[in-house]
Amino acid sequence: MLELAPGLIHHPGFFDRAAQVALVEAVRDVLKAAPLFTPRMPRTGKAFSVRMSNCGPLGWVSDIDGYRYQATHPATGTPWPPMPEAVAACWNALAGTALAPQACLINFYEPSARMGLHQDRDEQEFSAPVVSISLGDSALYRFGGTERRGPTRSIRLESGDVIVMGGASRLCFHGIDRIHAGTSTLLPQGGRINLTLRRVSPA
Ligand code: SIN
Ligand code: MN
Repeated sequence: MLELAPGLIHHPGFFDRAAQVALVEAVRDVLKAAPLFTPRMPRTGKAFSVRMSNCGPLGWVSDIDGYRYQATHPATGTPWPPMPEAVAACWNALAGTALAPQACLINFYEPSARMGLHQDRDEQEFSAPVVSISLGDSALYRFGGTERRGPTRSIRLESGDVIVMGGASRLCFHGIDRIHAGTSTLLPQGGRINLTLRRVSPA
């Protein structure tokens, strides 16, 4: 593992190929029950370039009314499916907290998708880290400190890598500048899946 900044830990190859294949299978099952939707920016309603879904008790959604967590899918109205076992196990191995994860956001990136620099700060509990899993095509991940205009660095995230944003880096700015299409054979149609695990509320 590599400490990119205080509390910002990169675990290259945390999931081996067999574990990645199993995880993709589990994500496919989740998406059958909770299909990908296109989130929209608050106020402007501009579409994100990623599509999203969630699993676990809470899901993160964004639409014209704002960012929020909710217990049901915005289109189907049904509760989010449970978090796959392997996802919860990853949190238990790396998060270093007794608090259980409550939300697993699923981001699906087509090769042209990106994610602007942002902080994860819609939670009411910041003692637990954010745990972020990469699957499929590799991505250029940019991270900085807790000031939007501060200096940033970039690293490449490969399929099976996990990033933990905790401690002094729990509120670090981060984003995905680009997807390197065709760099992984994990997803037959290409693209990238990111799973972001978070604790939302205090114990
Ligand atoms: C996010 O911060 O929401 C996604 C990060 C990633 O795709 O690795
Ligand atoms: Mn984020």
